Amino acid sequence: MFVQDPRWCQFVADHAPRYQETVFLPALVAAPWGIAERITAAVTTATTSGAKGLRLRGFRGSEFDFKLTENLSRTAPRDDQSLTEWLVDSADGRPACVAINDVSSWDLGLAALARSVVRSLTPDRDLVSGADIYTFVADVEWTPFGIHKDDEPSLIFHLGPGHKELWVWPADGIDPRQLFENPSLGKVSFDFDRLLPGASHYVLRPGDFVCIPRGRYHLFRNTGPSVFLGVTLFPFDIRKSFADLLIDHFGARLDAAGEPASFDDLQRLVLETLHAAEALSELPATMALAAAKQRTAGYLRAPKVAALRTGDAPVDAAYGWAYPGVVECVVGADRTHLVARGRDIAFGGAVNLDELLALTGEFTLNDLDAVLAVELDISRRRQVVNALWRFGALDLFSALPTTRAACAASA
Ligand SMILES: [Fe+2]
Repeated sequence: MFVQDPRWCQFVADHAPRYQETVFLPALVAAPWGIAERITAAVTTATTSGAKGLRLRGFRGSEFDFKLTENLSRTAPRDDQSLTEWLVDSADGRPACVAINDVSSWDLGLAALARSVVRSLTPDRDLVSGADIYTFVADVEWTPFGIHKDDEPSLIFHLGPGHKELWVWPADGIDPRQLFENPSLGKVSFDFDRLLPGASHYVLRPGDFVCIPRGRYHLFRNTGPSVFLGVTLFPFDIRKSFADLLIDHFGARLDAAGEPASFDDLQRLVLETLHAAEALSELPATMALAAAKQRTAGYLRAPKVAALRTGDAPVDAAYGWAYPGVVECVVGADRTHLVARGRDIAFGGAVNLDELLALTGEFTLNDLDAVLAVELDISRRRQVVNALWRFGALDLFSALPTTRAACAASA
């Protein structure tokens, strides 16, 4: 897989963690259609599951299109239909494009791939502030956002089938007075003819990768219907992490306290909450659980319920972990949490699951059952094994080769 490509490793070594240079790596992804197929599977799951939580936006020209957004959100790609064909169908054949954020949370395979990419982009880091894996499907000439910049680096894998043209302006390449302050897009311009001569020009073919630094103006033009997969790494924000952890820890207590009627009530509630001795003593366990959820999901949002497997794990099959670190165990004083791909399987009491976590390579359900038997009764063991299967922590060993190499590289 491409995360092992020496050019990718050099790119990461030279530019992590901020990715502040424009870098173009042609023909990096050997089988871009394989990734497009996984995105199609994700879109199929999302659109057939009622689309709750689907972050999809349809555009025409440079405008958000509510009707197209609803159409696309309710319509699954038909058998063998590509993403660009799905878009053309739902858009009545008129030029349009669609952006889908967090697309990896709708497919276990795409999530495993996304996790490998995010892991490879953040070497030697345990604390990552999260990532968004998004796709952009276009059957339109110019990108709807015009010449624009983004708040984070844009890491883009072009998947085709059409080519994409890209213009990137130097850091101070556009006089701000030549840009228009758009209320929803910020400073942008659609005055392409006047500004294009000042930009570097790239042609993206299927399998090409490009990194556009944050704050750098850029513009895309499609020469045919096409799809790309984008990665956004969110910069670490200590205030946000602090607030998230406290809300995670104290949220239930605050909800139970009812609605304060005055600032005095509010002050009392805040001070009482922060002073509760048992609340503070439990804080490290909350933080350990939050960290385990982040790491086991690869710093991505945990897969949606609609993306999980249904039914029990097939017996007599050979299994492996979906990727290294897909399962962690957090042992508290009176509760144990087995965390798999960001989801919690909780037990009463302190349960030692070291042997489970030590399993590597190929194993069977009997092997799993044997290591769990030391601590758990038969019905609990079945529950755990089936939860690990449904959550996507386990894969059939025969299904692993596509992601194994990537996992080994990013372990
Ligand atoms: Fe952009």
